[in-house]
Amino acid sequence: MSVAALIVAAGKGERAGGGLPKQYADLGGKAVLAHSVDAFLATAAVTEVIVVIGRGQKDMASRALTGRQVTHMVEGGAERQDSVAAGLALVTTERVLIHDAARPFLSGAVIDRLIAALDDHDGAVPVLSVVDTLAVNAGALGDTIDRSRLVRVQTPQAFRTEAIVAAHRAWQSAAATDDAQMARAAGFDVALVEGDSALEKITHPADFARAEQQMGAAMISRTGMGYDVHRLADGEELWLCGVQIPHHQGLAGHSDADVALHALVDALLGTIAAGDIGTHFPPSDPQWSGAASSRFVEHARDLISAKGGIIDHVDLTLVCEAPKIGPHREAMRARVAALVQVSTSAVSIKATTTERLGFAGRGEGIAAQAVATVRLPPG
Ligand code: CTP
Ligand code: MG
Repeated sequence: MSVAALIVAAGKGERAGGGLPKQYADLGGKAVLAHSVDAFLATAAVTEVIVVIGRGQKDMASRALTGRQVTHMVEGGAERQDSVAAGLALVTTERVLIHDAARPFLSGAVIDRLIAALDDHDGAVPVLSVVDTLAVNAGALGDTIDRSRLVRVQTPQAFRTEAIVAAHRAWQSAAATDDAQMARAAGFDVALVEGDSALEKITHPADFARAEQQMGAAMISRTGMGYDVHRLADGEELWLCGVQIPHHQGLAGHSDADVALHALVDALLGTIAAGDIGTHFPPSDPQWSGAASSRFVEHARDLISAKGGIIDHVDLTLVCEAPKIGPHREAMRARVAALVQVSTSAVSIKATTTERLGFAGRGEGIAAQAVATVRLPPG
């Protein structure tokens, strides 16, 4: 049975501070809001995704959700429950999951548990047990509260649409912090399913640091390799690692024939399995003839960052008898670091000869090998 996902993102994020409301701030290469939108879009049962945003947040929200197909983006209200109500008015499915944009780490397992519980209940919420001692704050330590009877309630919260719409209509009390308490007040039964500590809400500035750490721990490391060869010829400029080197010959070929940057592009593309340099810049296309290879590196770098990836390190080996690379190494490292946008300490440039053996040994051409290490968000 199909389900709607309703994400409330209309808050001001005052407690979290920062330049942008927290739901639009960057977390591991994409907006906090985009994390849960992506989780819902990846769930087969979810057939509509409705995002509720605050007045004047349209541009921020559109930017945060670039490239994602949401069903509706609608303006919310002064209180969270007003924002939920605005979204509920657009739901067409019999079941709905209501979620806080401020909880980015939403797993498919939690979504599945909630949806399954709706077979037997009007609603379902993910909960965690309380592990700390709870006590009344009476200035000094007050009475301890029996924590075994308590749970911490998270979102998403799942409901039969009819039930939660009726509960919202019937609600008369002060602002509600979630929807399940409204459903319960209206007499609907709300099941408890196992929550997820990763679902913790971003509320205060320190929660961002925790979320960044969670993000970092979940990132997966990928290594890509690249290899290229160009012929040495008279009357050509010699470009290696984006640096022009004075030499009596230069490299011939596609673009500026910077063999090292070409190997680097293939290594970077390899980390995201995005084909090779020829896939993106076909040698048959005249627009790349004589082009600076730095453009190819920037393109590969941007593809990685669009996936929320972080380039950790690149390592290049040049294979040639001449010129000597040592005197140019630091300039090359600085240039590559600037292109890849990492610190110079994360760029290694090495050179070797082949003992006068083979094409490189005879000075007919230069070969380059590159390895890149990148961290990518999971999924
Ligand atoms: N929310 C909403 N409409 C409101 C208030 C809150 O859609 N009028 C959303 C928030 O965007 C957030 C979720 O409800 O995703 C939970 O609210 P909260 O954590 O309190 O977020 P903010 O209200 O934005 O933060 P603060 O209270 O610190 O200003
Ligand atoms: Mg709030």
